Amino acid sequence: MKPAALLSSLLLGLLAVAAGAAEPAASGAAPSASGAAQAAGAASGAAHAGAAAAEPVQPAKPDLAQGETIATKVCMACHSIDGSRGSPANPILQGQHPEYLVKQLVEFKGGQRKNPIMSGIASTLSVQDMKNVAAFYASKVAKPGFAKNKELVQLGENVYRAGIADRNIPACAGCHSPSGAGIPAQFPRLAGQHADYVEAQLVAFRAGTRANSAPMAGIAGKMNDREIKAVSDYIAGLR
Ligand code: HEC
Ligand code: HEC
Repeated sequence: MKPAALLSSLLLGLLAVAAGAAEPAASGAAPSASGAAQAAGAASGAAHAGAAAAEPVQPAKPDLAQGETIATKVCMACHSIDGSRGSPANPILQGQHPEYLVKQLVEFKGGQRKNPIMSGIASTLSVQDMKNVAAFYASKVAKPGFAKNKELVQLGENVYRAGIADRNIPACAGCHSPSGAGIPAQFPRLAGQHADYVEAQLVAFRAGTRANSAPMAGIAGKMNDREIKAVSDYIAGLR
């Protein structure tokens, strides 16, 4: 299939998921995920004018089963069935903090983070869909990966653990934690992530093509290609 055809078939899959999701509280909501979310928001913000809701509409808790349905129908083609290791360009989502995943999906949808594939997909998700699918991936345990580049691994470890003091590059471990598990909810897990993906993100932060994090733009902006490659490979094997 051509990428465009693949994408549109995925989007159709997602619409089917959304249409199947009956949102019990928001009566009369359009059978689309975003319509339901808007209705829920409106209902909780004001008097629910005539809404047949028996209980007040709360921001719903993440629904793992609904998240799994979205993941299976829409995300699996690229992110694997459980968010684990797939193609190196597609990030591992397994074990990532749900708040971070939701932030990325919101920003793909809003355009603060740009990626043609993910923007198209995120634009079909309501915030509740995002929370559901994020909870599904976060519920999976991340599996360890491996570093491959023997020559660079020492440099990578130095950058990760100590930073580069004379150029004011902080230790990655300070925010992403020594084990790379991250610090919920602010600092994402990095440990075991594909080296290619991490490298691409650092290059994008440096170039300003990923502009959704001021701290990361500042840090990557001071790193050279060799340091980026080294720390990316080290992160792939971090556990
Ligand atoms: C056609 C392939 C494809 C599909 C389908 C897809 N993704 Fe992605 N996803 C990608 C790629 C490629 C990236 C990396 C984007 C970049 O480089 O910025 C990505 C990035 C992400 C990220 C950012 C991860 C991070 O560590 O910052 C999240 C979250 C995500 N996808 C969630 C999803 C969810 C949820 C679905 C299903 C609703 C989905 N993706 C479907 C290809 C896909
Ligand atoms: C001051 C805290 C801080 C430090 C130090 C830091 N980071 Fe980050 N990093 C962040 C935050 C916050 C994010 C989440 C950005 C977002 O919300 O999109 C992030 C995101 C990332 C991402 C994107 C993850 C993904 O799944 O797309 C990578 C890669 C990354 N950092 C690598 C590094 C490396 C390598 C270092 C060390 C050279 C480092 N970071 C140091 C705060 C930090």
